[in-house]
Amino acid sequence: MRARAGSALPFLLLLSVGCRPESPVARMAHELRGAYPEHATPTGVVRTFDIEARPAELPLVDGPKLRVWAYNGSVPGPELRIRLGETLRVRFTNHLPEATTIHWHGVRVPNGMDGVPHVTQPPVAPGGTFTYEFTPKDAGTFWFHPHVRSSEQVERGLYGVLVVEDAKPAPYSRDVVWVLDDWLLDETHQIFDRFNTPHDLMHDGRWGNFVTVNARTDTVLAARGGERIRLRLLNASNARIYAPDFGGLQPQIIAVDGLYLARPLPLGRFELAPGNRLDLDLTLPPAAVSRSLPVIDRFYPDDPKHLADIIVDGTTGQPPPSFRSPAHARVPAWSAGLTIPPTKEIVVNARRGGSYGIEWTFNDQAFTGHEHHGAPMLVMDRGSWVRLRFVNASFRLHPIHLHGMFFRLLARNGAPVDEPFFRDTVLMHSKETIDIGLVPLDAGQWMMHCHILEHAEAGMMTLFEVRG
Ligand code: C2O
Ligand code: CU
Repeated sequence: MRARAGSALPFLLLLSVGCRPESPVARMAHELRGAYPEHATPTGVVRTFDIEARPAELPLVDGPKLRVWAYNGSVPGPELRIRLGETLRVRFTNHLPEATTIHWHGVRVPNGMDGVPHVTQPPVAPGGTFTYEFTPKDAGTFWFHPHVRSSEQVERGLYGVLVVEDAKPAPYSRDVVWVLDDWLLDETHQIFDRFNTPHDLMHDGRWGNFVTVNARTDTVLAARGGERIRLRLLNASNARIYAPDFGGLQPQIIAVDGLYLARPLPLGRFELAPGNRLDLDLTLPPAAVSRSLPVIDRFYPDDPKHLADIIVDGTTGQPPPSFRSPAHARVPAWSAGLTIPPTKEIVVNARRGGSYGIEWTFNDQAFTGHEHHGAPMLVMDRGSWVRLRFVNASFRLHPIHLHGMFFRLLARNGAPVDEPFFRDTVLMHSKETIDIGLVPLDAGQWMMHCHILEHAEAGMMTLFEVRG
């Protein structure tokens, strides 16, 4: 089943000055202009990192040694930090007992660097190596994880954060990464080693019995009053969703899924689904003397989970650094987007069958392994505007994630939503219909899947092709 995207007007044409595109679809594509760059602008600086995946025993969660799979012997894996314009080169070696790859979640990479086994590269066999090299086009908070048997490999501890700093980073007092994850430990306090259980597959995936920040239950951000902190949150859980509550601190959201907002937004309830990132601008009142501020997850209001503590001790003695937050990006309104009929409608559902006894499907198709992937579900033209409608026919949660492109959420259940930001992952609730708009800029075969990794494993994945 192939569907063509609406307009074939080439993007380059839209870039020509003074051009006034006539069709509504072309106008949508035109609105993207200047939102984010089409191409990377490499400075010529290459930053090389060596990353190994291998089993390890580490004092994680609440203390005792936990047997995990780790990048460079730590969970989260190494924090890769580069500046915009620098080229990232990762020399990867697989010392796991099974094949793997690294996918760069949210980064607009050339298709061959996307880490999707059999689609963009051969899987890296045990003992094998692969070099990932690309120049990110966007500054922001990204992450990396395997794309082979992800529901097990990510759950065992394979994930890390890639921070692409702005060419001139804003003068925050500090820049901190918090990776949120949960762990399902058994009675011996080790990772429960049955993955993709029927229960997890029929419900919202694997939810753990320990919730951690940076793989510890006792994470503390020690700071002083008067500091202004950039706090980068990532949800690396297989399935758990968080709605972080900072109590009276009232942070501002400055970026979602890597990209800056059109304007900073106060953090109200934000549902941080697996894969999502949230960059917060957090100012600690200057007068604060020695107090501890818990950060609580309230996704389920009657089952709050403690995430971490911010401990404010003393004061900088200065007023908080004052500068305009970096959240002033150009984000298209695409307000006419809902007047254009959907390019494609995709129904999400489950059925009996497949190797797990239950399959998750897009339009009645279950992904049967990267090796045997069929024709792409959707073929889009580079530079043309596309509206996608997802209809959740199930009662479960599904964070929908697209590789290789950003999108804007246009509507939930037909009602327009005004999110002044792009995303690469959006949570779809039980029985909900969502509409998204996007303009693909990179040719290739890109995955679209649920980021509840058990759902993805049981078929909830497909390919979109961008040609051009
Ligand atoms: Cu984090 Cu295919 O995704
Ligand atoms: Cu799902």
